[in-house]
Amino acid sequence: MPVSVSPERVEIQLGERSYPILIGSGLLGEPGHFDAVPAAAAALIVSNTTVAPLYVRALRDTLSGRFQAVHVLELPDGEVHKDWQTLNLIFDALLGHGCDRRTVLFALGGGVVGDMVGFAAASYMRGVPFVQVPTTLLAQVDSSVGGKTAINHPLGKNMIGAFYQPRLVLCDLATLATLPARELSAGLAEIIKYGPIYDMAFFDWIEEHIDGLMARDPAALAHAVRRSCEIKAAVVGKDERETGLRAILNFGHTFGHAIESGLGYGEWLHGEAVGCGMVLAARLSQRLGGVDEAFVQRLTALIERAGLPVVAPALGAERYLELMRIDKKSEAGEIRFVVIDKPGSAVMRGAPDAIVREVLAQGCAA
Ligand code: NAD
Ligand code: GLY
Repeated sequence: MPVSVSPERVEIQLGERSYPILIGSGLLGEPGHFDAVPAAAAALIVSNTTVAPLYVRALRDTLSGRFQAVHVLELPDGEVHKDWQTLNLIFDALLGHGCDRRTVLFALGGGVVGDMVGFAAASYMRGVPFVQVPTTLLAQVDSSVGGKTAINHPLGKNMIGAFYQPRLVLCDLATLATLPARELSAGLAEIIKYGPIYDMAFFDWIEEHIDGLMARDPAALAHAVRRSCEIKAAVVGKDERETGLRAILNFGHTFGHAIESGLGYGEWLHGEAVGCGMVLAARLSQRLGGVDEAFVQRLTALIERAGLPVVAPALGAERYLELMRIDKKSEAGEIRFVVIDKPGSAVMRGAPDAIVREVLAQGCAA
């Protein structure tokens, strides 16, 4: 693993819950990057059966100088396991090892591991410290940052969870070398998202560098992770608990979550569903007057170049509407969509079912 020089640092400013995001290559193997982690007798590294064989050893070796005991738990891999049964394995391990309320949890993996470990940390003994060590592009640019933790319910995605901030996010870019191409594309969806909702200059940059990102050019990935984290930090710093602004980070997610739960968790990757969901949400934005046809085409083209699907599965408009009413943003049964009101700016609003049906008719497979 390459040795990092000096990681880039982005701060999440949340008063006493503030924490740093460190971004660099080879960070996992360097104890000096863990100074923000509170002292404790024990740590539990939670990973999964895919990531653990790749990176647990390096992390455990690094942590062994800080903790008397470093325990490891491997969860089954996959979105389909982001549920109560798997969450319970974390509590079993914590109790089985006699872990106290100072024990530090480390989430080593993608967003599935990160969301579950965060939720376990929020609730074990009413809250223990945890650290995010994201190993997918998606987790490095989005899910590890900001403190949303959750598991899925068969009736709805991420329906059970808590806001609970980590003490540190350590994005080791070297781990992206082993990421399957499909997962890299899934991460690009959440990077592209930041353009239309917040920063069109970043969108221009992504368009210029999409080939480099797809080829895992280290400098391009480093910039994309850093700028994404900066944007997420700015939004979360203003609205930690999503009383308003933070909802813009869900651009494409209302349609995307319906695709994920409608097809069955794990059929489409989260990032794939979000990418395709952004195409539908952009089309809805155009129908509501926020952007023009050229903008929809431009966003669709970039999502396609990122290796993501742009035609939504044919679940049927009524099924989409039914699934989207379960979304957390819904109010009194009204679906609330994140739409672009002008390029680089997003708002949350309702939309007539008739228009949503037309958007679905245009955007779904025949
Ligand atoms: P994931 O966690 O399922 O990881 C994707 C796959 O890549 C898995 O098979 C994993 O084992 C494997 N993997 C991880 N790192 C690897 C590596 N370095 N090398 C090889 N394989 C590796 O999926 P994801 O895309 O990281 O996360 C998606 C989840 O994140 C969804 O459940 C979504 O709801 C959640 N999410 C949460 C937030 C939030 O704010 N909390 C934001 C966005 C997404
Ligand atoms: N990914 C959406 C959020 O963190 O708010």
